[in-house]
Amino acid sequence: MKLFEPLTINGMPLANRIIMPPMQLRLGLGNRRARAFYLERAAGGVGAIVMSATSVDLFSTDAAWGRPGGVEQFIERMQVLNNEIRAAGARVGIQLWHGNQWPAGSGAPFAGTEQVAPSATAERRALTTGEIEAIVDKFGQAAETARTAGFDFVEVHGAHGYLVCQFFSSADNRRKDRYGGNLDNRMRFGLEIVETMRRTAGDDFPIFYRLGAEERRPGGITLRQSKAFAAALAKAGVDAFDVSIGMPVGRKPSPGRKARPGTYVPLAAAIKQAVGVPVMAVGRIHTAALAESILNEGRADLVGVGRQLIADPRWPRKIIAGREDDIVACLSCNTCFNPLRNDQWRPGDPICQVNPRAGREADEGQNQ
Ligand SMILES: Cc1cc2nc3c(=O)[nH]c(=O)nc-3n(C[C@H](O)[C@H](O)[C@H](O)COP(=O)(O)O)c2cc1C
Ligand code: SF4
Repeated sequence: MKLFEPLTINGMPLANRIIMPPMQLRLGLGNRRARAFYLERAAGGVGAIVMSATSVDLFSTDAAWGRPGGVEQFIERMQVLNNEIRAAGARVGIQLWHGNQWPAGSGAPFAGTEQVAPSATAERRALTTGEIEAIVDKFGQAAETARTAGFDFVEVHGAHGYLVCQFFSSADNRRKDRYGGNLDNRMRFGLEIVETMRRTAGDDFPIFYRLGAEERRPGGITLRQSKAFAAALAKAGVDAFDVSIGMPVGRKPSPGRKARPGTYVPLAAAIKQAVGVPVMAVGRIHTAALAESILNEGRADLVGVGRQLIADPRWPRKIIAGREDDIVACLSCNTCFNPLRNDQWRPGDPICQVNPRAGREADEGQNQ
């Protein structure tokens, strides 16, 4: 099966085409629950894991951790876990994110932070040019630290209407300086981030870019614009694209049960026409038959399998073993957003409607 063919991305060998995309489940980074959650998925046969959106400041600023030595301790913890994930057979990356706070901090709101954006809104003030340059530098430092921390690759979060995505969308970016206005200017922030990361982390460190390739709103990102952006990003040093949507208007990054399986494959297929580097498709890719057809038809080179791997970490191994009937199917119910949306949720509480172990692997012990 094409799904289990290896692929090398900028020197990084992937055992197969299955990637677990970033999913913020409030498991934390490197503690026992996060460790057990990721190791169970690595052992289940996934080619690579992308750890969830992580504020760029956490890679360079102890204050973001709220304690001296926070960054150093993070590096040490991740070096251990990343080695364990590799030993289990998967490659591991982390998604670098900026979520509209100044300073970005841990990503959670705290005293003294301001809400910022490319252009002012009712709740946010516009970033100054100097602040934009400082954020670009933070991405560079984050990539370098991620490499030191033993990650095989990084992914820029340029989708879902967060800061990087906003700079590209004329619905959010009405700046008059070199970071706003025409398409070239709106591409500049993303391009400078990638160029800086390439410089700091080195030529041989794979950089993925999650591209919010389309928006359904007035002035929103169009596929035509995204194809031009992707081509420029590839030239600037992006080694692989993970294609999703921009600002979630009228549809969700994690589509519900009525959405078409392979929801965002058409966006990936369009971006693939514009670039020569590997492209990953996402959105309700839950069956081997669908994944295989996407790859065989040349619509993408990699498949992002998110919630299905929460529901059943052994999805890849069961397919290899011809045991698809044993797969625990994801319902696309989005109960797994509870850790983010439900204030009552606490680490160790159940995450998934169909897999009571998810997020509790460390509490429940070895799976048989
Ligand atoms: C609970 C949850 C948290 C998510 N967190 C992130 C995130 O941190 N960064 C991101 O780019 N996408 C995030 N996503 C979107 C997933 O990466 C993925 O694109 C989406 O779920 C569609 O793939 P799937 O249908 O295979 O789950 C999240 C999805 C879920 C369900
Ligand atoms: S909670 Fe629902 S959507 Fe999330 S992984 Fe489990 S079954 Fe799938």
